[in-house]
Amino acid sequence: MICTFSYAQANLNRVDNIDRKWWKEAVVYQIYPRSFKDSNDDGIGDLKGIISKLDYIKSLGVDVVWLNPIYSSPNDDNGYDVSDYRNIMKDFGTMADFNELLKGMHERGIKLVMDLVVNHSSDEHEWFKQSRSSRDNPYREYYHWWNAEKGKPPYRYSLFDVNHDAWRYDSLTNAYYLHYFSRKQPDLNWENPKLRHEVYDIMKFWADKGIDGFRLDAFQFAAKDTTFPAFPNGFEKNFTQYYGMQGNLHGYLQEMNREVLSKYKVMSVAEGAGNNFEDAHNLVDAGRDELNIAYAFDGVGIATRKGYSLLHFKNVFSRWDSAFVDKGWLSIFLSNHDQARLVSRFGNDSPKFRAVSAKMLMTFLMTMRGTPFYYNGDELGMTNAGFYKIEDYRDVQTLNEYQRQKNLGANLNEYLQQISFESRDNGRTPFQWNNSAGAGFTSGTPWIMVNPNYKTINAEAQEKDNESPLNYFRHIVKLRKDNLVLVYGKYTLLDKQNPDTYSYTRELNGKTLLILLNFKSKSSVTNTGIDLKKAKLLIDNYSHPANNGLLMPYEAAVYEVK
Ligand code: GLC
Ligand code: CA
Repeated sequence: MICTFSYAQANLNRVDNIDRKWWKEAVVYQIYPRSFKDSNDDGIGDLKGIISKLDYIKSLGVDVVWLNPIYSSPNDDNGYDVSDYRNIMKDFGTMADFNELLKGMHERGIKLVMDLVVNHSSDEHEWFKQSRSSRDNPYREYYHWWNAEKGKPPYRYSLFDVNHDAWRYDSLTNAYYLHYFSRKQPDLNWENPKLRHEVYDIMKFWADKGIDGFRLDAFQFAAKDTTFPAFPNGFEKNFTQYYGMQGNLHGYLQEMNREVLSKYKVMSVAEGAGNNFEDAHNLVDAGRDELNIAYAFDGVGIATRKGYSLLHFKNVFSRWDSAFVDKGWLSIFLSNHDQARLVSRFGNDSPKFRAVSAKMLMTFLMTMRGTPFYYNGDELGMTNAGFYKIEDYRDVQTLNEYQRQKNLGANLNEYLQQISFESRDNGRTPFQWNNSAGAGFTSGTPWIMVNPNYKTINAEAQEKDNESPLNYFRHIVKLRKDNLVLVYGKYTLLDKQNPDTYSYTRELNGKTLLILLNFKSKSSVTNTGIDLKKAKLLIDNYSHPANNGLLMPYEAAVYEVK
């Protein structure tokens, strides 16, 4: 059941003592361009495809689009290996297409946040080609090199490398270069001021075009101790601890803020937030003049193949909220292009519960304090891909790890089962627009297989159904946009020890909203101590809400408490 609501805007003037910012009040919709919409049937999503869907994006009610990288790239890591930061990837179109896309967004009141991938570049970037060509090349210091006559460099872990070894030997100059991600993603040397200013110039290039923000990819790893001291044994299990937030990272961010961010009306979001609340605060607190929004992984990491504990989930989100009550600002998300699908991980993707649990998760994400980041396709309740053979996968991380497991003689069936739940490719299958072959994404051969469930799960079918996840998404986004209390209001966890339900209030200026969520596939009772008879139901994902604290499986309800 969905009720209408339009009274909240009237309260705007009463919001005192709140540091209002457009990026706090925004709902961000993340688009993975390779998989969103293919305009020329080469099987690859592109900018013209996104342009053709701008009215759809607008219809969602979101205000910001975060676009994964669209720069020139040999695509070792789907654009996260940039070979030219000032050009558009051929697969995706041209700069003229980009200009048209940005104009089309702005005409519709939608802002654009671009991915900034500068912890590393592609090894096919001109800088790296120069850098590796000789030891005295002027670009040598744009990257991290270790001359082989010094012996083997102290071990560094690589997230994507087949051997998890971040040093790659290059015979051309008899030296090793550093790559925390794949071999084709050499780490840039942020300790070199020349490199830093090159990056600021690139940022200005895009900001001058009128984009509205940057998402700083993997930036918490950018600063390094270039003496490369040895780390204690076993360190590789805690990557953020030994590789994140090192050296002069904050100095670089303050410089970036001075040189670029402060000069434009742009927002900035960090990928990763270090090891603890203090690290996260140091990235985004007002007055430090670094970034705006922290993007911490504690929440998204909770789901495992064996499920997860709701008590743990509530604890993580409540602790992050309380750590940011006074200062700083968080993003709220449970999925992105690096994760398997939202409903498959945190909800229930069986036919019986898929839609209702997808709506419950939407309700959670749109009613927490912080800026919601919502990944494309999750508004339809798209599910994991169901791949069962390695040939179906495209992701460099998944494929390299498979190779590693094979080299180690590990049980590959076990690994295949693991990736069918976890691989990033689960979240990267083509957007399901309709039930025609190729799901309306392409009439060519898609770069990665379409999920066969597109025949039933697709946008066209959901447009026609008032109760669909897609239409629920529009309502819950509108509810957030209409109620500033959902953005800034105080969060209080209720019925804390309940292992099945998540209940909380949000309060601002005398207005209280109550959110009740059942995370389980059985009916559950929540005892909030609030008399629901005196509350007004604003939205519910069931047509006959229980209305007395008894929640149906995956029920979600938002009340205004009188
Ligand atoms: C970030 C991106 C991920 C990419 C990695 C290397 O984590 O989100 O997709 O593979 O950085 O750039
Ligand atoms: Ca295309």
